[in-house]
Amino acid sequence: MADKKQGGLGDELFGSRLGELRDATGPVKGEFVPPPDVSGKDEIAEALPEQEEFWRPPARFGSVPVEATPLGWDSRRGYHKLYPQVMLPTQVVERVSFGHPELEPNRLFWGDNLHVMRQLPSQSIDLIYIDPPFFSGRQYNVIFGDQNELRSFIDIWEGGLSGYLIWLNSRLYEMKRLLKKTGSIYVHCDWHASHYIKCEMDKLFGYENFRNQIAWKRATPIGGKVKSKMMPRDYDSILYYVKTNQASYRNEYLPYSKEYLTTYFKHTDKDGRIYRIQALGDYSEESREKFRQQGRIYKSRDGKEALIQYLDESKGVLLDDIWVDIIGMQHKAFQKQSSKEKIAITRAGVLPTVQYGGR
Ligand SMILES: C[S@@+](CC[C@H](N)C(=O)[O-])C[C@H]1O[C@@H](n2cnc3c(N)ncnc32)[C@H](O)[C@@H]1O
Repeated sequence: MADKKQGGLGDELFGSRLGELRDATGPVKGEFVPPPDVSGKDEIAEALPEQEEFWRPPARFGSVPVEATPLGWDSRRGYHKLYPQVMLPTQVVERVSFGHPELEPNRLFWGDNLHVMRQLPSQSIDLIYIDPPFFSGRQYNVIFGDQNELRSFIDIWEGGLSGYLIWLNSRLYEMKRLLKKTGSIYVHCDWHASHYIKCEMDKLFGYENFRNQIAWKRATPIGGKVKSKMMPRDYDSILYYVKTNQASYRNEYLPYSKEYLTTYFKHTDKDGRIYRIQALGDYSEESREKFRQQGRIYKSRDGKEALIQYLDESKGVLLDDIWVDIIGMQHKAFQKQSSKEKIAITRAGVLPTVQYGGR
């Protein structure tokens, strides 16, 4: 699947219109750039995926009682059948960069991201983080910032869950097209639809390209939650997929907590260096020998060997897929200092390009 070409109208536009905009005489900051006229343009044949390659459950699954194609997919016209092409203007801004030499930097796209993405070229993006509506069945009205700006969006879906999944699938399909072979995608959701989104993403991105379901703890239970006759639902899920197995990933580390340090780093050597004793686990005999030569092996009275790990050489706790250390998202302090996007970006270690209503 990785080598199959998934093209889109964005590739064609990219060669013409976006190229023109790169002139020195191009639009200035604040200016709106009108979209090109694509009426009468046919679908590009390559934009259609080879569906039989999309959904390949592992052999141990046997025959899976689900549709082979993602919901809403038309075998001839893909998602263009339900959602025809619409071209949107862009605005020239500061501070936005795609980090991709061929793409115009400092351009903020306003509008429905399906139509925006269709204007972008294939395989041009390293990382996508999205925070879409969660299928919560609610309408959100949030007064935001000092100027009391009202931000609202409706998370109620005609056609119920399948209507929502079709809407999301058409966008995930474009996101997959935009990702480089080394790229990855993080989809923020919660219990309302996470399991169903996972099934659809398996069909779109491939079951084998799933990497993590990150549990992001939201807030300490209060008020009504205590009386809800069930365990409080206190985490969001972020589904992390890669485009191919060539995807890049960098380990991230969190600082040790005070408790961790006092529990584990309990020893100090003659030079004043703080260290802990760690089991050798699955280190090979070769590595063990190297540790012995470096004086890094601690021998207990019964002759058992362990590894000496110095605090000043330790990177911290390897970031795993359970995030409990972030101040509550609903908390004012969180909203002032941060956003879900910023945190997800920092932890994924690269810059994203496609967001949903991000700040
Ligand atoms: C869960 S909220 C994300 C809020 C944002 N991440 C934050 O932390 O403030 C979902 C957002 O997606 C936006 N949205 C809904 N449909 C969209 C679409 N088709 N294209 C772009 N944004 C969309 C909504 O307006 C809403 O702001």
